[in-house]
Amino acid sequence: MHLILLGAPGVGKGTQAKKIVEKFNIPQISTGDILRKEVREETELGKKAKAIMERGELVPDDIILNMMEKRLNEPDCQKGFILDGFPRTIPQAEGLDKILQNKENVKLKVIEIFVPEEEIVRRLTSRRICSVCGRDYNLILTPPPANGKCESCGGEIIQRYDDKEETIRNRLKVYNQQTEPLIHYYSKKGNLYRVNGLNNVEDVFKEIENILDS
Ligand code: AP5
Repeated sequence: MHLILLGAPGVGKGTQAKKIVEKFNIPQISTGDILRKEVREETELGKKAKAIMERGELVPDDIILNMMEKRLNEPDCQKGFILDGFPRTIPQAEGLDKILQNKENVKLKVIEIFVPEEEIVRRLTSRRICSVCGRDYNLILTPPPANGKCESCGGEIIQRYDDKEETIRNRLKVYNQQTEPLIHYYSKKGNLYRVNGLNNVEDVFKEIENILDS
């Protein structure tokens, strides 16, 4: 199974990807998670990416495509994968097409999760994450423990540096300008499905399961 989860920041791509991993046993590849790891480890890429991510802008296509070509050639991706946060521009989608051309038995499905902007801002301003393991908490949905320590690893729970309201609004603008054109790109190819991300996590997952089983 080869799947792209498409959608604006905060629609629930990461949340749903984790549930798909559990059920279908294929890896989740999140370009955002890969970049945040580089930032934590203070690599050259991490230093460059941090400033861009803090502004809510996109890391250049050539860097992302290089990173993804390597990742998609790793052994765990040979039976399939869930792409979460990639591609995000038309050149990235064209680059992905080239990478997949050389692989056998790839039948790509693209699922767009849609949520209205004000709900996205509400979800992202209330998101908190563990600074060590990345576990997701949400002040509305899944509040963190009162001591501010992660239940999984004891790490400090923090707000993501791009989850300030001003940055969220810029991420949404960047999505509308640079990523939304991918909806047309994939609908022309006939492999795009749309799910309503306003429903609760379980109901969104049921809709996705139906698409993946079809
Ligand atoms: P990335 O990490 O990909 O962030 P994003 O796309 O902005 O997505 P989010 O992680 O914010 O949201 P999500 O849709 O995964 O939602 P989630 O499940 O977490 O990218 C970050 C940055 O990295 C980019 O801005 C860019 O700079 C750079 N980057 C990454 N990829 C790149 C690329 N390909 N090219 C260039 N640059 C790139 O849910 C959000 C919250 O809502 C959570 O708290 C969750 O608990 C809650 N929630 C989830 N589902 C529901 C529900 N159904 N009901 C209520 N609450 C819910």
